[in-house]
Amino acid sequence: MTSDAETLPPETSPASPSPAADFADAVVRGLSQPRKVIPARYLYDRRGSELFEAITALPEYYPTRTETGLLDAHASEIGRIAGTGKVVVEFGSGSSTKTPVFVKAARAAAYVPIDISEGFLRDAATRLSRLLPGLDILPVAADFAKPIALPGAVEGRPMIGFFPGSTIGNFAHAAAVDLLRAFRATLGADPWLAIGIDLRKNPRLIEAAYDDSAGVTAAFNLNLLARINRELGGDIPLGAFEHRAVWNDDAGRIEMHLAAARDVRFHAAGGSFSLREGETIHTENSHKYTIEEARLLARAAGWRPVRWWIDARGLFSLHLWRGGADAMEP
Ligand code: AVJ
Repeated sequence: MTSDAETLPPETSPASPSPAADFADAVVRGLSQPRKVIPARYLYDRRGSELFEAITALPEYYPTRTETGLLDAHASEIGRIAGTGKVVVEFGSGSSTKTPVFVKAARAAAYVPIDISEGFLRDAATRLSRLLPGLDILPVAADFAKPIALPGAVEGRPMIGFFPGSTIGNFAHAAAVDLLRAFRATLGADPWLAIGIDLRKNPRLIEAAYDDSAGVTAAFNLNLLARINRELGGDIPLGAFEHRAVWNDDAGRIEMHLAAARDVRFHAAGGSFSLREGETIHTENSHKYTIEEARLLARAAGWRPVRWWIDARGLFSLHLWRGGADAMEP
């Protein structure tokens, strides 16, 4: 577990009610610091989300296909252990790609996708209702990092949270604990959680996954600057920046940065900013865990680890945790 000073603001809720003002605020504040940072959630505009989808299909990006394999192999076992017929609550459901196998194996009584993007929720609900006719889908547009009041129709019913994709890796330790506590609060009495967590491994493999040879991850990272130019009246010369993926061994995380290839000045969101050659803007952290660290994380947030599964190559892990007062050790 890392106890590093946070170099990125926690992935928490926006400070401002308007999304545009919130983005502007984050950019101005982040670029005014001695070590420049922009929170990772701003990578995911429409274009960024498309690029992320493309990343998940890259040969170097092992997490998505490895986790999908784990879910195919073990989702029904999760259903057997936790009990079927629960309400499945997915945190940050996005395009809900991994949902059908889980919802089917869990014989879900209802599916509650939670996402900040109403567009994603609408598209996913449409697609899923075709794939799984008869499934009760109750989308909730909210920031999943805070405890959420679920629709009255599922209140008081047994629930299992679903948090795939190793999204937990975007959060530094303290913020990850807060997040997992918020999940317990959202899921009511005797909750269960199925969570995907990327594992620590040879740093070369991790760096390749975040700096692919086709340059898709570079485009994903650089899109943040293009987005600033598009939405915040910026004049950032994109050609002056390079994508960097750096393994930080002490913190146990891969970091994405945008590095200035020369001294550069630009304007954005009403401010003017400069970087020296080699200076970077830190744009994302993706923490990797050992199995033991993942179990400690669970306990720190009041969850009891029940079971975990890893793929044959030891790349990625899937965990089943239980919360609530009567949670039992395996
Ligand atoms: C969506 C946050 C899980 O950290 O692996 C992929 C994002 N960034 N390539 C990850 C990401 C660069 C991804 N998460």
